[in-house]
Amino acid sequence: MKFRVYRYNPETDQNPYMQGFVVEASRGMMLRDALLAIQDQDESFAFRHSCGEGVCGSDGVNVNGVNKLACVTPVAELRETVVVRPLPGRPVIRDLVVDMSQFFTQYKRVEPWLKHRDPLPEQEITQTPEARDKLDGLYECNLCGCCSTACPSFWWNPEKFLGPQALLTACRFLEDSRDQAAEERLDALAGPYKLFRCHSIMNCVEVCPKGLNPTKAIGQIRARMLKGSL
Ligand code: SF4
Ligand code: SF4
Ligand code: FES
Repeated sequence: MKFRVYRYNPETDQNPYMQGFVVEASRGMMLRDALLAIQDQDESFAFRHSCGEGVCGSDGVNVNGVNKLACVTPVAELRETVVVRPLPGRPVIRDLVVDMSQFFTQYKRVEPWLKHRDPLPEQEITQTPEARDKLDGLYECNLCGCCSTACPSFWWNPEKFLGPQALLTACRFLEDSRDQAAEERLDALAGPYKLFRCHSIMNCVEVCPKGLNPTKAIGQIRARMLKGSL
């Protein structure tokens, strides 16, 4: 199977270039396996990966123009020649490894932890099954960044627009019955950039390997804001 992969080592290369490799595809082979086979052929080739199970979120790459997690992408589903590039819109550290600092900065800005104001109960803060169900589709994110790096609004304003991942996380805490800081969270999301730069293009939904829907979450936050302002 033919591959063309993005190569760039800022210490030795003047410009990025694409390099061709041929890998023998085996039954059930995932893109991560193919990248490892490429690394066997050229040990200077760099990409991130860890769990191999779609859990750690570290091996997001752009494959034939679409962001995907390499370890859960069967090569049999990919059109040849398979073109693999780093996630778009992020500075390249080396080959497929990008600097995700801005993405994690935006994640931290939504303060992704429970804020409970009342005195804590002795054992645990309980939640009804119905309230727990509201978190489905919001908590499963593995922070791979495939969504935010596919979002044109995030490309143009990565410092101001929080991006789909951070906004999905904001919604996850707004919807949690144990969190008591909804007003503060909504105030922090006000203004023209943090939330309202989303133009509902839905790139984020199309690429999420966990099948999550950040656009819907963004709509939920907007509805809450509107309700609060009436
Ligand atoms: S729907 Fe919004 S958050 Fe998702 S990719 Fe489009 S602009 Fe970005
Ligand atoms: S919402 Fe989906 S695409 Fe975005 S970071 Fe989370 S798992 Fe990845
Ligand atoms: S290696 Fe962990 S998600 Fe792919």
